[in-house]
Amino acid sequence: MVKITFLSNGGKVASAPENSNLLRVSLKERGGIPFKCGGGLCGTCKCRIEQGLENTDAIKPKERKHLRPEDFEAGYRMACQTFVLGDVAVSWGGQNGKDVVVEPTNAPVAAEPAAQADS
Ligand code: FES
Repeated sequence: MVKITFLSNGGKVASAPENSNLLRVSLKERGGIPFKCGGGLCGTCKCRIEQGLENTDAIKPKERKHLRPEDFEAGYRMACQTFVLGDVAVSWGGQNGKDVVVEPTNAPVAAEPAAQADS
């Protein structure tokens, strides 16, 4: 069995047989990876293998339609096209498409409005 950690779902951990499809495990174990088509077409299931990238199988041609070489280098895969051969930790929730923000920005965070004393 392999261990899959769903980082963007509070670090939820699931185990699955070796060579399981990542999206399928997510569905079965409620891991929470977003998806639409399940067939490598929509690109919704784009995720980042934060740990254990070496434990995923070969990149599929369908993935190359949605991810750039630099995305793969950064660990991005499409969950519905990815099979896990060992433990991985996965995150998701980047921007809707091509430009994934990997590093957090240093933009100042808007201050919270002052709480109303009596409302
Ligand atoms: S769910 Fe559509 S490409 Fe993976």
